[in-house]
Amino acid sequence: MKLVLATGNRGKVREFREMCEAEVIPYKELTGELEIVEDGESFAQNALIKARTIFEALDEEAIVIADDSGISLPILDGAPGIYSARYAGEGASDKENLYKLIDALKTKGLRETPAYYTAAIAVVSSKGEYVVHGWMHGTAIDEARGDKGFGYDPMFIPEGYALTLGELDDAVKKAISHRAKAMALAKPIIEMLQRK
Ligand code: IMP
Repeated sequence: MKLVLATGNRGKVREFREMCEAEVIPYKELTGELEIVEDGESFAQNALIKARTIFEALDEEAIVIADDSGISLPILDGAPGIYSARYAGEGASDKENLYKLIDALKTKGLRETPAYYTAAIAVVSSKGEYVVHGWMHGTAIDEARGDKGFGYDPMFIPEGYALTLGELDDAVKKAISHRAKAMALAKPIIEMLQRK
C-alpha cells in the first residue's frame, strides 16, 4: 500500500523514508497542491487535519502520514506552540521567528528559561486514525548560537547538553529529537496498517 506524506519538505520526506524503510510519496505528486486549513487547537488536531484532508483527496487506497511540530515556553504560557512556524507573522522566515522569541525572553529580562519541542504524527487510513507524540525538553536562551539545524535550534539547549542544537552535531539531534521519538512510535502503527 502507498505511504503518502502530508509535506513537500524534502528533509521530512527523507527522514520518513529512512524511518519507514519504504518509499513515501509527497502528497502533491498525487493530488497537486491542496489548500489545507490548519485551524486546530493542538499539534495533534493540526496533524490530523492535514492527514485527513489528503486522505479524502486521494482516489486510491493509501496510508497518509502528517506531522505538526513546534516549540513551547511555559513562561510564555506555551507560546509560540502551534503557531511556531508563523510566530513573527504569516510567511515569516525561520530567522524572524527565532529573533522574535529571543526578544520575548529579553523583554521578560530572562537569560534562559525551560522550553520543549513537541511533534505530533497522525496516521490516517481506511483502517483507522492514529496520533502519536514525541517531546524534547531543554532550555531556551536569549541568543542564537551555531547554524546547524533549523528554526529555533540556535537558541535551544537540550537537557543533558551544554551546547545549542545549532552547535551540536546533526546526529545528536536525530537521536534525541521530538520528531525521532514520535517517528519511533508511528513506525509500528504504519507497519501494522501495511500488514492488515
Ligand atoms: P511544521 O511542523 O512544519 O508546521 O513546523 C513547525 C515550526 O516549528 C517550524 O517552522 C519551526 O519553526 C518549529 N520547529 C519544529 N520542529 C523544529 C526543530 O526540530 N527545530 C527547530 N524548529 C522546529
